[in-house]
Amino acid sequence: MITTCEPVRSAVRHFLDLDHLETGVLRRILNTGHAYRRRESVMGNPLPLVGRVLALVFEKPSTRTRVSFEVGMRQLGGDVVVLTHNDTQLGRGESIADTARVLSRYVDAVMLRTNTSGNLNEMARHASVPIINGLTQDSHPCQVMADVLTFEQHRGSLAGRVVAWCGDGNNVAVSWIQAAPHFGFRLRLACPESLMPEERSVTWARTKGADITLTTDPREAVWNADCVVTDTWTSMGLEEKSRPELLRSYQVNAALMALARPEALFMHCLPAHRNQEVTDEILDGPHSVVWDEAENRLHVQKGILMWCLT
Ligand code: CP
Ligand code: NVA
Repeated sequence: MITTCEPVRSAVRHFLDLDHLETGVLRRILNTGHAYRRRESVMGNPLPLVGRVLALVFEKPSTRTRVSFEVGMRQLGGDVVVLTHNDTQLGRGESIADTARVLSRYVDAVMLRTNTSGNLNEMARHASVPIINGLTQDSHPCQVMADVLTFEQHRGSLAGRVVAWCGDGNNVAVSWIQAAPHFGFRLRLACPESLMPEERSVTWARTKGADITLTTDPREAVWNADCVVTDTWTSMGLEEKSRPELLRSYQVNAALMALARPEALFMHCLPAHRNQEVTDEILDGPHSVVWDEAENRLHVQKGILMWCLT
């Protein structure tokens, strides 16, 4: 079981980053997610969150995260309030700390999609209700929890399996790195030298026993892999730093996928830029589980909400 010192010390159940959560908590969330995926009710109560309200705060666009949290909360009997940056006083400069204090008086939990982990931690530090990380440019833990659930749905445990990441060492890649010691898979990341994931997470995961390989060669990463993962070459808010010319040889196409195991899965958090980071042939082909992955956002969000709120 992994424990780390929480940067945000609190008795409240925040879901911030996978390196700050215990393995047992992640397992419990996934088990709940699997139960919802199988349409089972949890704790014998089909509407456990009646009377509870979740605020969804978006400083960046979203389709999957917004709809899965909104539908998930309603399916559990609760309600949601959706706030976009420019509709709130955050957009006019009200501080995150004051916003956290105020929202805590109205709602039972807040999901925040914001630019930096600094903003997210600031919200958690000043909120008296659970804060859920709905993506920052530094990580995307809800996504990777859905990805782990998707692998387990199709192939069983990730322990000992090889996951290959190809492309930008971005927020989703960092959450995969942080997931590695919890679930015991080997992670090989192929990224251009200048787009390698931040070192801190790699060091943390390795000190927790994770087997992580960093390479600039996508073929080395994908060789015999059980799961091949990629993401957009240009993350939201980082358009100026985008380097598509460096990433062309990291495209997941039939030639690259042929190096993985014949039964390997292909995953992408979506939205995909078809025929850029992944070809249509792969995205729509037999290895791809991207639609299940999108559906599993819903089941995992319900697992996260149940852990935060019950
Ligand atoms: N994968 C994901 O988080 O998608 P959205 O940006 O649509 O929420
Ligand atoms: N890396 C992408 C993920 C989108 C869900 C981004 O941050 O834009």
